[in-house]
Amino acid sequence: MSTKTAKSTPGSTNGSRPGLDPLRPVTVPDFAGAKARGIRLTMLTAYDFTMARLVDAAGVDSILVGDSLGMVVQGKPVYHTRLVVRGVRRALVVADLPFMTYQVSPQQAVESAGRLVKEGGAHAVKLEGGVRSAAAIAAITGADIPLVGHVGLTPQSVRRLGGFKVQRDAEKLIEDALVIEAAGAFALVVECVPTDLAARVTAAVKVPTIGIGAGPQCDGQILVTPDILGLFDDFRPRFVKQYADLGQAVRKAVEAYCGEVRDGSFPAAEHGFR
Ligand code: KIV
Repeated sequence: MSTKTAKSTPGSTNGSRPGLDPLRPVTVPDFAGAKARGIRLTMLTAYDFTMARLVDAAGVDSILVGDSLGMVVQGKPVYHTRLVVRGVRRALVVADLPFMTYQVSPQQAVESAGRLVKEGGAHAVKLEGGVRSAAAIAAITGADIPLVGHVGLTPQSVRRLGGFKVQRDAEKLIEDALVIEAAGAFALVVECVPTDLAARVTAAVKVPTIGIGAGPQCDGQILVTPDILGLFDDFRPRFVKQYADLGQAVRKAVEAYCGEVRDGSFPAAEHGFR
């Protein structure tokens, strides 16, 4: 965890419901203990310094360096984690373990998680899967690396699951959640699960559940930042709410810039030096 003092950040209280302390860096125990205090947790993704700085300053409790940005292809999770950590003063930074960096053996899982923490500076790691990942989770938490689990729709298994589909197998989901908790995870992402079933998972575990497409009864929520900002509009899943249209703002700004360069109105006299 960063030892820097957090800036005064707005927005970590939500209406009448309290949030985590906006003035202190969020720790793993703060995050894990929020459920018992009735605090809803906020989490967003970031992959670079600029976005990490912006979402952190706006008061999000935790940032996931998710492999939603195709980090599996780029293969640079440590690099992206380092950029994000550098931009963050308060949020808890969780780094995703990419596909095939933890599936081979518990030893491989500990080594990969260790790199994200030691070289990337992550405060915690996340990996996908319940029963099938139990040995990896136990090995990582046994090495004292804080870990977030991920059940329901697990994007790294999308081929086996037959696509991005809502996951409805209640028995399996609850078993996976309990196994992850028993293996030492301090929180659990629950993705694309019917609202009632996500509520059952949330009631079954003591650690906070962080929902994405899993309804309002999870202990917190995560969304992919480019989705809520309107920066990625090829495909918008039903569970995404778009809070801004930065894609449109970027297009307009770039068109204006190109137009002015072409017609000679930029740069003007005030943009030059004497
Ligand atoms: O990779 C990712 O960004 C994720 C979130 C969508 C939960 O796993």
